[in-house]
Amino acid sequence: MDYPIVRMRRLRVSEHLRLMLRETKLNASDLVMPLFISEKITEKRPIESMPGCFQIPIREVAEEAAKIARAGILSVILFGIPAKKNEKASEAYNPDGVIQKAIREIKGRQPQLVVMTDVCLCEYMSHGHCGVVRGEGGQAVIDNDATLELVARTAVSHASAGADIVAPSGMMDGSVAAIRGALDKENFAMTAIMSYSAKYASCFYGPFRDAGESPPAFGDRRTYQMDVPNWREAMREIELDIREGADIVMVKPALAYLDVICRAKQRFDVPIAAYNVSGEYGMIKAAAKMGWLEERTAAMEVLTSIKRAGADLIISYFAAEVAPHLVPAA
Ligand code: PBG
Repeated sequence: MDYPIVRMRRLRVSEHLRLMLRETKLNASDLVMPLFISEKITEKRPIESMPGCFQIPIREVAEEAAKIARAGILSVILFGIPAKKNEKASEAYNPDGVIQKAIREIKGRQPQLVVMTDVCLCEYMSHGHCGVVRGEGGQAVIDNDATLELVARTAVSHASAGADIVAPSGMMDGSVAAIRGALDKENFAMTAIMSYSAKYASCFYGPFRDAGESPPAFGDRRTYQMDVPNWREAMREIELDIREGADIVMVKPALAYLDVICRAKQRFDVPIAAYNVSGEYGMIKAAAKMGWLEERTAAMEVLTSIKRAGADLIISYFAAEVAPHLVPAA
């Protein structure tokens, strides 16, 4: 049976009907808000390449978290900018490091807020790579196995400061297993792991470099992050992380990788997260500033599309801005 019996437009005639039949609804509880906490500042500082985003001093982080919670957001993911960097990333696992302090501040004021932490060494390494560097100049390599111990130590220090979920983002092989082993050994069996399983070597991280102050001093991240054209490899990365004990797996970036999100959702039964990264945020912000796009409508369309593709959780710099306009979390 076809036209004229079937008329697809019948069910689109009113806002109420459209709302009733909407297949995907974005909720505030789908969103995770990233926060950049800097040990180097005493006042909130705007991030130039990410309009509307700020680096936050430790003493203001609890207030910022309270504001985000009031907007209806249930979870934040923390990135730290330490005062000192070195070749061992020791501030990443310092019990009184920037992130460890920030977690305690947030949990002191907002115990119910789900605190996730980005577990990576790049912001803490003098060279800005996500792992331990061996050799010099053109010979330099990122030593996978030497990195694992530092990553595990960092995750344990976040858990002991009160993090609910640790999120390894360095794309070192074996990170999830190393972290799960270390957490369990230290009695953090209930701390969850969200792995950045399929993290691509993407140009869309560009604006983040200003926010995290962690661009690599030499070379690039292509020996550890994934090659952009590959989706089957992403399935292997995700499968390995699940076998190592990941509770949640992530695809990053999101918008140019909706096919990867969709395939991951069809294939795996763990929750899928997607990271709507800085460059995706920047495209909308820049176009809106030019008057070419309506910002909130564009942000909602993108976030809804990421959910439609299969994401159960979406990390986005738009989270706090759009949350008050969504279905409330509870
Ligand atoms: C660190 C890290 C990066 C991002 C999150 N964690 C930068 C990178 O890997 O180059 C990017 C986030 C964004 O662009 O919004 N490993």
